[in-house]
Formats: sequence, C-alpha cells, structure tokens
Amino acid sequence: MLLRVDKALSQLQVAARSESKKLIRDGRIFLDDRRVKSGAEKFDPEIETLYMDGRALRYEQFQYFMLYKPAGCVTATTDAENQTVMDFLPKERHRNLAPVGRLDKDTEGLLLITDDGALGHNLLAPGKHVEKTYFAKVSDEANAEMVRQFAMGLEIGEKKLTAPAKLRILTAGEESEVEVTITEGKYHQVKRMFHAAGSEVLYLKRLSMGSLVLDEALKPGEYRELTQEEIEALKR
Ligand code: URA
Repeated sequence: MLLRVDKALSQLQVAARSESKKLIRDGRIFLDDRRVKSGAEKFDPEIETLYMDGRALRYEQFQYFMLYKPAGCVTATTDAENQTVMDFLPKERHRNLAPVGRLDKDTEGLLLITDDGALGHNLLAPGKHVEKTYFAKVSDEANAEMVRQFAMGLEIGEKKLTAPAKLRILTAGEESEVEVTITEGKYHQVKRMFHAAGSEVLYLKRLSMGSLVLDEALKPGEYRELTQEEIEALKR
C-alpha cells in the first residue's frame, strides 16, 4: 500500500504533519538514497525505507478491518470444524491478524480484526470500560422494570453484579426489540443478562464498539479496512 511521507512521519510519531514540512525542507528525510522533496510523495514501506538524518525509520504498518460477522462462524483464527471469521478476509492479509473480543457463533455484527495487539488489548481491558452496543430481539415484553434491572446490575452467576448497562426499548410485545449497551465482555454476557431478567435472546447483533460503528453499507460476511479517522478515534 502506498503511503504519503508526511503521513508516515506523523504515524511514526517523528513529527506532526505540520512539522514534517520543515524536516523535508531541511533535507533531513530520504527514501532509500533519494532526498524527499515533498510530504505528498508516496512510497511503499515494504519496498522502500524512510530515513531521517541517515537513521532508518522502521515502518510497521498495522492492518485494521471491520467485519460484519455473519451468524454461523466462530470468532477464532482457526477451527477444525467451523468456518471462522478469518475466512472472510483475504488469505494474503492474514499475517498476525486476530479478532478483538469474541462474538458467539450465532451472533452477528461488528467485529474488529487487527494485528495491532496493543490496541486490541486496550479495547478489551476491563478498566477501560469500552462501550459495546447490541441490537437484540428478545422473548417477552421488555419494560421499565427490565431497564431498571439492567441499570442496577444483574446477578448472572459471577462474583459481582454486572456493571450498569443501558437498555433502550425499541418495540415491546410478545417479543421485543431493544438496544443494549454494556461495558464488560463476559462470556455470553448479553444473553445471560436477559436470562437473569426473565427473558431470552432470540437474535443478537453488535452495532458498535467504542467509537467504531458497524458500516451500514456492509452486508453479513463483508468487510472493509478502517479509515484513518476510525483508527485514530479508537486509539484516543
Ligand atoms: N453477549 C452475548 O451473549 N453474546 C455475544 O456474542 C456478545 C455479547
């Protein structure tokens, strides 16, 4: 993938994009043995090396994908029996990629897949309380009491009650449609929370994780790379 020199310098935290102009003007930036004349010059980091003051700047580019996980595949990198989420990404890009967090086999929706281990770790760290929002169809009539229970915390067989969660009722009837936002990531958490509140999840789809929102243009099984803005927002 081709990269602009000024963007590479800022991603490498060598210089803010505005400062990189001066470095380039002062003749301090080279691509192999060629002096860079403009920040807009593009290069392929797998072929050319960027130098500042004769020192090679190692450019390790991470890959970031959003997958609209379909139901029926497992969130794993390999599996002897099941299709995995990795099967939806091109094989030549698989190098070091791993899904961030886990969706159940029958859950659909937003899954971030990256080789940026530090970012993945941060998004999953319990202390960070990253919000995950799901759309769910549930049995029974969702009501104000359920909203209160989700807000207060539910007993799901863990040492502590679940952390406060937001429940928004979209439709209520014999079956209900809701949006639920949690900040934890326990095994089958959403399903166990509804079960504890006297209802069962019939369908579950993740809509967002932190600042990252599932692209509505994607269909189940489709993916796209994250934009630079999305990557920077996740790192904030
Ligand atoms: N909670 C669940 O119960 N399942 C998921 O896949 C995600 C959150």
